[in-house]
Order: sequence, then structure tokens, then C-alpha cells
Amino acid sequence: MENIEMNSNAPAAAKEEPKKVIFSGVQPSGLLTIGNYLGAIKNWTTLQDAYDCLYCVVNLHAITVRQIPADLRRRTYETLAIYIACGLDPDKNTLFVQSHVPAHAELGWLLDCYTMFGELSRMTQFKDKSAKNADNVNAGLFTYPTLMAADILLYQADLVPVGQDQQQHIEICRDIAGRFNGIYGNTFKIPEGFMPKTGTKIMSLADPTKKMSKSDSNENGYVAILDPRDVIIRKFKRAVTDSDTVVRYAEGKDGVNNLMNIYSCFTGKTHEEIEREFDGRGYGDFKMAVGEVVADGLTPVQARFNELMKDKAYLEEIMRRGAENAQRRARRTLSKVYRKVGFVEI
Ligand code: TRP
Repeated sequence: MENIEMNSNAPAAAKEEPKKVIFSGVQPSGLLTIGNYLGAIKNWTTLQDAYDCLYCVVNLHAITVRQIPADLRRRTYETLAIYIACGLDPDKNTLFVQSHVPAHAELGWLLDCYTMFGELSRMTQFKDKSAKNADNVNAGLFTYPTLMAADILLYQADLVPVGQDQQQHIEICRDIAGRFNGIYGNTFKIPEGFMPKTGTKIMSLADPTKKMSKSDSNENGYVAILDPRDVIIRKFKRAVTDSDTVVRYAEGKDGVNNLMNIYSCFTGKTHEEIEREFDGRGYGDFKMAVGEVVADGLTPVQARFNELMKDKAYLEEIMRRGAENAQRRARRTLSKVYRKVGFVEI
């Protein structure tokens, strides 16, 4: 894992060198949380000048579990709109939808033939998801990691920002790429996982020992980027803290620490400054204040999101531009691969 400080003076590649390529994929779900926002997306906006970034809405991956077609379609627009609303500039990043670039499915199939049954069987996400969807353990769920490897390898990505839960998929991607390169000579760039040093890990408000997750069955555990103001405030009011009464950052105070991190991310204040601000005031005041700054911080994002969702034609234009750009780059890798394995080109 490469550890790079994600801030506005993130190390740019030397002037003459081509920018490093960053690729990440997100499943089309309209329910991204402030955990996704603070831990990932907000940081990505600081990379858009120094790196060549591609962000893909991975709808092919999404159908490994059953989807309601209308919901999947809507969420595809929503996911793209959230990215733009959070500050990812479509002129600086390649934003696109996976199904618009057939090379993903094509390379996915090819990589299936260079991936072992045994190694896919060991994937913890496969085991988890099969347990959760026992009535639909389909082949796509099993080969999910090879499609993900195809996503990354098509663009010769250097860095792949993902959460802890995706580390194993990065590892298998590196293994598959290394195996292919070993047989056919250097074809794929071997990518690195990319953990933002400053990206804060946001914990569940209901159980601050667990990561905040949109799939949490308890809605009070997460705050969605699109949650209305009153919902946000209510969720923070209910946030689990501890039996102490002092707002301070300390070992064992997971709930308060988490709230302090969130407050700090939205206000730029340090933990010490926050402790001073709430000196002599109770948790009630503090929780209310956190709710307010989060709601205030998300207001412009939500406003921009709502505007974008009213303009499908604009979103489709972004999808079209992104797809064209991605398609051209992906084709280059795919033809190289096809030549190497001995497919006849016409
Ligand atoms: N599997 C990733 C997730 O669920 C999504 C994903 C698909 C992805 N393809 C990718 C992430 C390529 C990074 C790179 O979060």
C-alpha cells in the first residue's frame, strides 16, 4: 500500500513525466455516506490536478446481486451526480459508466482464463456475499474480482484508492497481472492500493467501534450525503457517546472521538480547539453543534446534486464524454492483450 498525503500540495509527478493514473470504481448506490465523503470523495477532489483520474460507476458489478432495474438506472445518474456535486470536475477527471465501455466485460472474460478457481474461492467478499445471498450465489459473484482487475488493468492504473475491505481484490489484481506479464511479457502495469493518510475513517454513530456503512441495518448508524437537515440533526442527537461528560479526545471514548473527527473535518478545527470550544458544555450541545456543521457543509453539495438530477441531458453528456475517453484508452490495452494471446485482428 502506498501512503500518500492527500492534500492540495500532494506530490505532483515531475513536470515532464506523464501524470500517474488513478482508477477507482463505485457501485451505483444513491446512499453514499459522510464516511464515503470524508474518507474518499472529498480527498479525490485534491488529486484532480496532479493525477490522471478515472472514476467509474460499476453497474456491471452491481448486478452480481439482484437489482430493481428502475432503481439501478436512477442510482447510476445519482452516483455520477454525487461525484460532480462533491467537487469532482468532469473536465479534469474521466467520469464514466462501466457498461458504456465494453472492453471491461471483454477483458474480464479473458482474465477469467488466467485466474484460478482456488484463488477466487478464498476471497472473503465472495464468502460474505454468498452467505448473505444464499439463494443467488451466481457465477458473477464468484468472478467479481477478475472484472474488477479488468477495470484497473485496462487503464494501466498506478494507484487505486479503496477502503480496507477491497485490499484483497487489489492483491488478486496484482497477482493476475503479474501472472499474465510472466507468460506474455510486460503488458499490464502492476497497480498499488492507495490509502489516504489524511482520509479520516468515520465510524458508525450507533456503534462507534464499527465503520460507518450505508448497508447498516440501523439507519441511525450512518448519515447519507443526501439526508435532509432534520434527519442529520436527529441522527447526531442520538449518536452513542459514553458515560463521561467532557468533550475530549481520548482512548476508549470511541463515540466522542468519532464526533470530534467529523466536526474537525467539516470545520478544519483541531481536536484541541474543539476541546476548548466545548469546555464546560455537555454532550448535548456538542452533538447539536456537530449536526449543524454537517448539515451546513452538505447543503451546497445537496443543492448542486438536485440541480444536476434535474438535468439528465447534461449528465448523459458527461457519461458520453467519459465513455469515449475511457473507451479509447481501454481499447489500446485490449488490442495489445488480444495480440499477445494470439487473437486474429481484422
Ligand atoms: N469492488 C469495489 C467496491 O465494492 C468497486 C470496484 C469495482 C472498484 N471495480 C473497481 C474499486 C476498480 C476500485 C477499482 O467498493
